[in-house]
Amino acid sequence: MRAMEELVDRGMVRYIGVSNFSVGQLQDAQTAMSKYPIVCNQVLYNLKRRGIERDLIPYCEEQGITVMAYTPLADGSLAVRPRARAGRNWEALQDVAREAGKTPAQVALNWCLSRSPVVVIPKTNSVARTEENCGASGWRLTPSQVQRLEAAFPL
Ligand SMILES: NC(=O)c1ccc[n+]([C@@H]2O[C@H](COP(=O)([O-])OP(=O)(O)OC[C@H]3O[C@@H](n4cnc5c(N)ncnc54)[C@H](OP(=O)(O)O)[C@@H]3O)[C@@H](O)[C@H]2O)c1
Repeated sequence: MRAMEELVDRGMVRYIGVSNFSVGQLQDAQTAMSKYPIVCNQVLYNLKRRGIERDLIPYCEEQGITVMAYTPLADGSLAVRPRARAGRNWEALQDVAREAGKTPAQVALNWCLSRSPVVVIPKTNSVARTEENCGASGWRLTPSQVQRLEAAFPL
């Protein structure tokens, strides 16, 4: 982490971020540095994998650390109807999408963004899907829609 600070001093990087750090690791890493804050932690987060809501998200929010959610579409399974019988959670996602006038992918991404320190980095090889995923920004799910999604995809 001290070497990372030197990279900032040399102008080689602008900010320091980490990936897959727990709260304890964030604290240790920050303690090892004397000049610069950790600005970002890239971690797994999506409707199906909500574990970081227990401690990491509250800690990052309090410390002003951006949570960069990777695999926010659960490898595409929150974007495309499953080939096998769709579960009730998929139906709930689709219902909210219909009501919001958005696609399931846009709803799944926007749900991640409904927690304040979270940004998302979905991956796609397709321009059309990139445009679709960009449409996850600039609007908000209603509190009742968030509640329905969280009931369908419990922590
Ligand atoms: N720091 C880490 O440890 C770590 C670990 C894992 C991943 N990551 C990063 O996180 C980013 C994204 O995560 P990820 O690729 O694991 O998962 P993801 O973004 O949840 O899912 C990617 C999959 O979803 C499909 N997809 C994307 N948008 C779609 C849409 N609108 N409709 C239907 N399908 C869609 C993609 O297929 P197509 O490409 O065919 O569209 C791809 O198969 C990547 O940049 C990756 O490098 C970081």
